[in-house]
Formats: sequence, C-alpha cells, structure tokens
Amino acid sequence: MKIITVKDYNEMSQKVAEYVIEKVNQNPNITLGLATGGTPLGMYKYLIEDHQKNKTSYQNAQSFNLDEYVGLSQDDPNSYNYYMYNEFFNHIDITKSNVHIPNGNAPDVQKECIDYEALIEKNGGIDLQILGIGNNGHIGFNEPGTSFQAKTHVIDLTPSTKEANARYFHSIEDVPAQAITMGIATIMKSKEILLLISGESKQAALSNLLHGEIDESSPASVLRNHPCVTIFADEDALRDTGK
Ligand code: F6R
Repeated sequence: MKIITVKDYNEMSQKVAEYVIEKVNQNPNITLGLATGGTPLGMYKYLIEDHQKNKTSYQNAQSFNLDEYVGLSQDDPNSYNYYMYNEFFNHIDITKSNVHIPNGNAPDVQKECIDYEALIEKNGGIDLQILGIGNNGHIGFNEPGTSFQAKTHVIDLTPSTKEANARYFHSIEDVPAQAITMGIATIMKSKEILLLISGESKQAALSNLLHGEIDESSPASVLRNHPCVTIFADEDALRDTGK
C-alpha cells in the first residue's frame, strides 16, 4: 500500500482528481468504481472543473457505484443515484447508459445484487475503484463482520453508520435500515484502488487499517492484501497513526 500524505481535505481532493484525470486520459474506456458520501465531493468538484476547462472526456468511460440505500426511489434526494447525478454525472459528458448504480428500489433486491455483480463481471471488472472509509472501518457498506468472500449483497446498516449518515436525513429514524453494496470480494477484484481519508473522525479507522489485524471485524484491513492500493490521507486523519 502506498500512502500519499496531504495537508488537508482540499489538497486530498485535488491530488486524487489529478490522479483520476491522468488515468482517464491514458484509458478513455476506463471503468471507474465510484463512491458517495462527504469524502469524494471535493474530488468530483475538481473533476468537473477540469472537464469544463480541459475537456477531459468521460464519454467512453463506464462507471459502477459502490452502493445504494434500499427502499429509496432513484430521484429521492437522499438516494445515491440522485447524489451521483447532482454532484458529478450531470456536469460531465459520460454516456448515461454507461452509468451503473444498484437500484435500491428494485422489486427483488436479491436479484438486483446478482445482476449487478454479473454486470460488473461482464464488463471486465473495475479498473480504478475510489473508496471512502466509515468511522467503523466499513468500505462500501460492508460493515464489520462482513465476509471477505462477499459479492454484491444486501446489508443491514449498523447503528454507528446510521448515526454517521443521519446528517443528511430529517432524523436518524429516516435513515434506511438496509443498503445494497458491492461486496469485499467485488471491491478486491478491482485492478487498482484509491482510498480517500480525511479528518480526525477517521483516525481510528485508518490506524486499524494500517496496524490492526487483517480481520473481518475491520473490513478495510483487507486492502492490505490488494496489490495496488494508494491511500490519500490528510494530516488530521494520519495524526497518532504512527505514519
Ligand atoms: C459511500 C460508501 C461509504 C463511505 C463511508 C464514508 O459510497 O461506500 O463507504 O465512503 O461511509 O462516508 P463519508 O465520506 O461521508 O465520511
């Protein structure tokens, strides 16, 4: 694992965006794995700015999002589908049929998971996966205890994840109980992974990832088994982690 230390959130966002832009320019047919949440928002902002200024094109790129809440319609402002169009896709030239996000409102969510996994495989897998990390060490919505063998599946969100994400909802009761997420095995099949970590609240998760046991109780620890991971971490996240 390679660690790139950055000063703060803004520098992280900029450096990751520069990295992604280079990869997209090298391979215009790239398949991106994308994340939502607070962490990648700055990166999306820089990618949009670059697209407008330098015309980096996503027309032939494919994208697969990591996860989606179960039970929210695609146009619900709290759905990750809404987030992705609002924060990124509506502002670049990606071909809409190349965008893939699990449908959390599918009539049969189990089938949706199987189909989503198959679609990733049919597409030849993910070239560059962007990840954030939960305070509890989750990646995607793979909560502590999830099998490292898991493929795309439905997960019950833990109280700590619901609490962390309640800031986007009226109240914690409104946070969906479940999500569809790519599994750990799905994520680990990506050819390359970029993990973005910013802020003091992520210190423990980062410390566990770097120094803890590689164990299902700490989902992100599995990344130490992946041959091509770059962590972009800011000073607040790295403090007290011995790095
Ligand atoms: C989002 C995702 C999650 C988030 C994590 C951190 O698609 O898969 O793993 O990356 O919950 O969220 P933020 O960035 O809001 O702290």
